[in-house]
Amino acid sequence: MNVKPDTDLTAQPLRRADELEEALGNCRLALIQTVHAMSAVAARRDQFTAHHQLRVAELSVAMGRRLGLDSERLEGLYLGALVHDIGKIAIPWEILSKPGAFTAAERSLVESHAQIGADILAPLILPWPIQLIVAQHHERLDGSGYPARLRGEAILPEARIVAVADVFQSMCDDRPYRLALGIDPALAELERGAGVTFDADAVRALQAIAAAERSVEALWGSLAVDAHDAGAYACALERPHGAAFEAPPGIPVSWSSSPLATPAGACRAQRAEDPHR
Ligand SMILES: [Fe+2]
Repeated sequence: MNVKPDTDLTAQPLRRADELEEALGNCRLALIQTVHAMSAVAARRDQFTAHHQLRVAELSVAMGRRLGLDSERLEGLYLGALVHDIGKIAIPWEILSKPGAFTAAERSLVESHAQIGADILAPLILPWPIQLIVAQHHERLDGSGYPARLRGEAILPEARIVAVADVFQSMCDDRPYRLALGIDPALAELERGAGVTFDADAVRALQAIAAAERSVEALWGSLAVDAHDAGAYACALERPHGAAFEAPPGIPVSWSSSPLATPAGACRAQRAEDPHR
């Protein structure tokens, strides 16, 4: 066999470097798509949580950018936020949608979603700390959170950002036990916890982003454009679940259209107990 030798030896390492870079890029894309696939599976069961996660992901990225995170960390932040509640797939829908206060057993079950989510993601070897974001998004600076009662800087910065975005989005959206509170009351609630339960820098970043917006709808609209312009998340920003969320029969996309929704004033005690469960 007459195999013509490649005489340009200097080109070989360059070619291999290009191929290696392309292979790494493909691996990264496959991992991003894997996280999206997991999110999509969970969305088939619970569109409401999928919608919440997408909003939290967009807001978290805007906050992270303001806090100076580089594109690598922003990518991980987006993906972690996109599946931060994936553990709720293991919680009965009847409990998640309960309009009244939880019993102790129900609360314990719901709170298990953070660890369940981390366990679901554990087999994936990822270049981003997504499992930690999922595991820690309900931890609080003063140790009052769950599941590990972590304190302060023992909580990953990305998880501290998602924690603030999570609570804010929850309070700006209808829930089975109350209707949406609005931007200003939500910001005020977070301001009370800044430096105590919530990362003060993350709260400041949220305030800078949200305070100027006229409405929650305007805020989410501006975030979607902002995140897309950054171009750092490849397919992550193609809105994997579609612009419109089509809920299965009996499962409301918005609780305001749900028969479970209650007037905001009728559940003030519940709100005071836990405005963002
Ligand atoms: Fe959660």
